[in-house]
Amino acid sequence: MQNFSMQAKIIGTGSYVPEKVLTNHDLEKMVETSDEWIFTRTGMKERRIAREDEYTSDMGFEAAKKAIEAACLKAKDIDMILVATLTPDYAFPSTACLIQNLLKATQAAALDIQAACTGYLYGLSVAKAFVESRIYKNVLVIASEKLSSIIDYKDRTTCVLFGDGASACVVSLQGKGLWVHDVFLGADGELAQLLILPAGGSKLPVSEKTVAERQHFLRMEGNETFKHAVRRMEGASKDAIEKAGLKTEDISWLVPHQANIRIIEALAKRFDIPMEKFFLTLSKYGNTSASSIGIALDELLREHPLKTGEHILLSAFGAGLTWGASVLTCE
Ligand code: ACO
Repeated sequence: MQNFSMQAKIIGTGSYVPEKVLTNHDLEKMVETSDEWIFTRTGMKERRIAREDEYTSDMGFEAAKKAIEAACLKAKDIDMILVATLTPDYAFPSTACLIQNLLKATQAAALDIQAACTGYLYGLSVAKAFVESRIYKNVLVIASEKLSSIIDYKDRTTCVLFGDGASACVVSLQGKGLWVHDVFLGADGELAQLLILPAGGSKLPVSEKTVAERQHFLRMEGNETFKHAVRRMEGASKDAIEKAGLKTEDISWLVPHQANIRIIEALAKRFDIPMEKFFLTLSKYGNTSASSIGIALDELLREHPLKTGEHILLSAFGAGLTWGASVLTCE
């Protein structure tokens, strides 16, 4: 077996989803859609929606507490907090700083990461680099999204897809866990317009006009995004598996970004992998953007404890465009 002694590992995971459930049947009463359309086109049945007074930082905090406990650490042991989100509480200060305060992780540096649905993997990659360079011992990666705050519930092409939730993991050299192989990351800013929140930044500050034009809500060219998602997730996954010195059949579980069952089925076909090997949460949580891979990973580890030497593939795709993949190996 490969020598992993200098390699970062995930030593604890956690996740959190809000209580409120928004079903396809609820959406039928809000926009012109049907349970049948949503389920056959996306694989989604329901998603979770945060309370009005529950924010990205609160959900991230809940997931983080569980990850720290699973890692057998205390908040004061955390040296750095990375928060992947496209729905921060504020433009600034960072959500990472807000969660640092909630956790009372007073030793920790704090930084937000914006890579949309690929945020968990971008966060994992930054954490791995800090840990393996021995700058920090324990890095907490959090992905948290209150997508309901940027969704137009009058737009049937997007409102059926997204849900709220958070996930977290602790990355360290010490402790028992999952070794993180090379994280492959990519981006193509030329396609930035495919998936965008037009208003609210420095280019188009929110105004009466932008609100009237509903530009403070997420917009997506779904069809075009779909094609890139399949191609990029396939490429990144192949790179990650090869670099780990493995073959597709060596992977026990695939944990893909949970955007659409048809994207995942296309990947299964291209890799010739049975669908049973894909761990899916999208029917119950929808697309939770950056949080999605981490929620699925946390649930996978709780429901199917892994044996030594088993491998998991993480693969994601999102706005930017961004994409990434990595293999984890159980110690
Ligand atoms: N209910 C009923 N009909 C609908 C709905 C709905 N909710 N939404 C769209 N339709 C209609 C459309 O208006 C269109 O009607 P028309 O033919 O009369 O014009 C028809 O259904 C087909 O629409 P398409 O957009 O072609 O549907 P498609 O099969 O492509 O599915 C979807 C749309 C689900 C959005 C898909 O394209 C997709 O999953 N795209 C990728 C999403 C993704 O991966 N995002 C990246 C990550 S997200 C992030 O980074 C934040």
